[in-house]
Amino acid sequence: MCGILGYLGDGETLSILFNGLKRLEYRGYDSAGIAVLNKQDVFLIKDKGTISEICKPELFSQINGHLGIAHTRWATHGEPNKDNAHPHFDCKKEIFLVHNGIIENYNTLKRFLENKNHKFISETDSEVLVHLIEHFYNDNLEVAVSKALALVEGTFGLIVIHKKNKEMVIAKRGSPLIIGVGEGDIFVSSDAAALIEYTKKVIYLEDNDIAVIQEGNYSIKNLSGQDVIREIHEIKWDLNQIEKKGFKHFMLKEIFEQPESLSNVLRGRIKNDKIKLTIDLNPSSLSRIIITACGTSWHSALIGKYLIEKIVGIPVEVDYASEFRYRDSIINKNDLVIVLSQSGETADTLAALRKSKSRGAQTLGIVNVVGSTISREVDSGIYLHAGPEIGVASTKAFTSQVVTLLLISLFIKQNQGYKLDNILLNEILSLPEKVKIILDKQDDIKKIAEIFKSKNNFLYLGRGINFPVALEGALKLKEISYIHAEGYPAAEMKHGPIALIDKEMPVVFLATNGTVFEKILSNIEEVRARGGKIITVTDREDESIKRLSDYVLYVPKTIEEISPIINSIPLQLLAYHIADLKGLNVDRPRNLAKSVTVE
Ligand code: G6P
Repeated sequence: MCGILGYLGDGETLSILFNGLKRLEYRGYDSAGIAVLNKQDVFLIKDKGTISEICKPELFSQINGHLGIAHTRWATHGEPNKDNAHPHFDCKKEIFLVHNGIIENYNTLKRFLENKNHKFISETDSEVLVHLIEHFYNDNLEVAVSKALALVEGTFGLIVIHKKNKEMVIAKRGSPLIIGVGEGDIFVSSDAAALIEYTKKVIYLEDNDIAVIQEGNYSIKNLSGQDVIREIHEIKWDLNQIEKKGFKHFMLKEIFEQPESLSNVLRGRIKNDKIKLTIDLNPSSLSRIIITACGTSWHSALIGKYLIEKIVGIPVEVDYASEFRYRDSIINKNDLVIVLSQSGETADTLAALRKSKSRGAQTLGIVNVVGSTISREVDSGIYLHAGPEIGVASTKAFTSQVVTLLLISLFIKQNQGYKLDNILLNEILSLPEKVKIILDKQDDIKKIAEIFKSKNNFLYLGRGINFPVALEGALKLKEISYIHAEGYPAAEMKHGPIALIDKEMPVVFLATNGTVFEKILSNIEEVRARGGKIITVTDREDESIKRLSDYVLYVPKTIEEISPIINSIPLQLLAYHIADLKGLNVDRPRNLAKSVTVE
């Protein structure tokens, strides 16, 4: 994953890189480093830990360079330590490089370079690149980088500088890279979040682009040496949206932003009882829908299956992108492949998209980050407009994805010639209000978090359209609180997990009104009979629920199709408060990263 950043200009280089890197930490935070060209010297600082632990602000005024590169790491090759941290440098300590991606043939390249007497310090794949560039360097950095990259297999977003020149050479294949065009200064970054404070004008590089950035100007070519033109885009969001705004964590802020993010995803998309989407979907030529995604996005994909099959009646398959891309998946020309990704950069999801396109399927992206690689490569797409999501555990993007899948189902139904159900449309429009009601009950959820925060295991059970919500509730808890949690279809519990139930086991039930409500009640009975501690999320003022449950979390009444969105909110808050009460770093859970740009 990793985040990379470069700066060339008259600003305070070290502090610009430091601040920008902090905004990229959602991409990885196990080690970090910065190199600044200070006249003919290079100031280099790098180590295990976050940039705030490594680089103290007292240094800002002491380092006066106008060119620098920076990196925040999520380890792939080699443990997080000083040697493995970026920037990496060549044998003469003249060329410095930051890299995001994976060099697949690094072992072969390393052997070749070792035979030529290059000395390696780290265990990383990235260090190979800087020595390879050194091998080809003959007073022209761009040429050396191009020659080196011609031998590389794998993915890269990289920035290279040479001690002698005030220039950056940057290149991209498979990892995101953008140029930020400021007033006289130029930025390079994995993500706009790092440079939004300074400029809103960005250029998204394409795969196999190489660019040379010099004072106040840049030139872009492809790796075959032809000039290419890449447009300047204007970023529509601002810094305010990526600040914590008084919340203790980004995750909590993003949970509380859901009334707004849900309004945004709905804005202009339901009008006069019709769904308005600017996508071209002809149901008559549609034989099957495949939805592919990773992580939390995969959970919304599963909810999408329930929705589309119920509302439209077209078969839907849901696949982990990491499996879909490598197995002999059957993809036909009449299939619609929906690609779900908050970041629009997840490596496996991108590969699944490319595979689908190469087999002639129609592709549709549901993406949050505007201008991301997936959003640019799909045939058509729908943006979530949820605003930047910084907390590693996805919350507001998840609920917006589910709403979007619901809108798509209704859009297809409408295109089949049906009139849409008014009650359902009104329920969708009332979502922001209903979510607000749950958020106002945060304190009730916090009390339950206090009671259960020391448990070692949790079980989440749901049925039908709320089974994926059980999976998502369990994922939220395990990723930020490190408590082992499993989500299961409630009836499947009898085929295994029921053996785990004793009086130490908290079991969260999703028991809102719907086709399987009575069935869920029986499942609650089964857990109760074995002494499990029952926490029930429900919208029914039902005596039996009260009698059977140890704790009840009430949510506003809605209809079944909407319930996954409503029901996931208390589960987000429960996971958040348990992790926070345990004193954990909720926004930066160990070993995880927000944007998984490696496979
Ligand atoms: C990582 C994040 C998850 C996210 C998943 C897929 O694992 O930590 O929050 O759901 O990647 O990311 P995407 O950006 O493709 O939705």
